[in-house]
Amino acid sequence: MFDSYARNIDYLRVSVTNRCNLRCKYCMPEEGIEDLGHANILTLEEIAHLVRVAARIGIQKIRLTGGEPLVRKNITKLIGDIAQIPQINDIAITTNGMLFADMAEDLKAAGLTRVNFSLDSLDEERFKYITRRGSLKTVVRSISKAMEIGMAPIKINTVVMKGINDDEILDFVELAKKMPLHVRFIEFMPVGDLPFYKTDRVVTVSEIREIIEQKYDLHKGANVQGNGPAKCYQIRGGMGSVGFISAMSDHFCGECNRIRMTADGKLRGCLFGKQEFNLKLALQNQASDEKMAEIFCRAIREKPNRHHMNEGWGADNKRKMYQIGG
Ligand code: GTP
Ligand code: 5AD
Ligand code: SF4
Repeated sequence: MFDSYARNIDYLRVSVTNRCNLRCKYCMPEEGIEDLGHANILTLEEIAHLVRVAARIGIQKIRLTGGEPLVRKNITKLIGDIAQIPQINDIAITTNGMLFADMAEDLKAAGLTRVNFSLDSLDEERFKYITRRGSLKTVVRSISKAMEIGMAPIKINTVVMKGINDDEILDFVELAKKMPLHVRFIEFMPVGDLPFYKTDRVVTVSEIREIIEQKYDLHKGANVQGNGPAKCYQIRGGMGSVGFISAMSDHFCGECNRIRMTADGKLRGCLFGKQEFNLKLALQNQASDEKMAEIFCRAIREKPNRHHMNEGWGADNKRKMYQIGG
């Protein structure tokens, strides 16, 4: 379905939980977050039902996010149910990789088509510092497992933060050169009330590119399957690719193709902004599928044309990244 700015919205990002087994400094406080409680989150049956409704109005690609999507019980079953929906041709997850290795084969058998890993450091100590409880070794095992079972393309999301991991940019490029991995450098975004977010921690995509291009030739034309906002480049002689997600310095809203559903059943047109549509309430009121489809259509029709965060306004979103799913 097209929105009011002629963008074809065919990608739904579904946050299946706001819980996480890590506590990345830029995302969650050390003590964790409020528990939404079972009654307030969508059941897996409700999620599958809503995806079926979304498929009727043109959604073809689903990405499960969190928090950490793999901490949600029976997530494999949900993937299986979504895979049964004929219009859906891509089911991906974005994961921190802590639980993926042991679930990988079942996830793939259920119908998972792609996986993106969040990974902000290649140094065990620093990885632990950023995530507070992660283990780099475990994540590396998951990435290896994804390669072993033939998931492709495998993407690595690296949020670049000044003074935290910006000295590892070239190490990540080297990783993308040696392995069939697609590393995407992401500008740090102020989503929700993040005490860790500071404008002087942001490294812009042009700054990141400048560092990379002193050592590597980047070529346009890397054709990496995906639905997201990354601009991808090949590295001469490389197996993978390097991509950039410049949400702040050069927004990509003109090509935006997605809407988002939160774990508590709210539909959002944009990561930023505050507008939400209440699907959970509609479900509680036993709304018909037609009524539910109308809510999806409204969210798409009223999707804002762009965000204004880089002009210093529009930060009226109180929801945090772990509540929206990135
Ligand atoms: P592919 O389909 O593999 O390209 O995935 P993706 O890039 O859409 O998904 P992923 O969950 O890996 O997101 C990568 C980064 O892009 C995360 O930091 C997201 O928060 C960010 N991102 C995804 N969609 C949007 C968007 O619409 N707006 C903004 N500002 N950032 C987004
Ligand atoms: N800015 C940019 N990216 C972020 N992510 C989480 N928080 C932020 C932020 N403030 C990324 C994670 C994950 C993806 C879903 O969003 O690293 O890969
Ligand atoms: Fe968990 Fe992802 Fe947030 Fe880290 S960024 S705490 S892995 S939800």
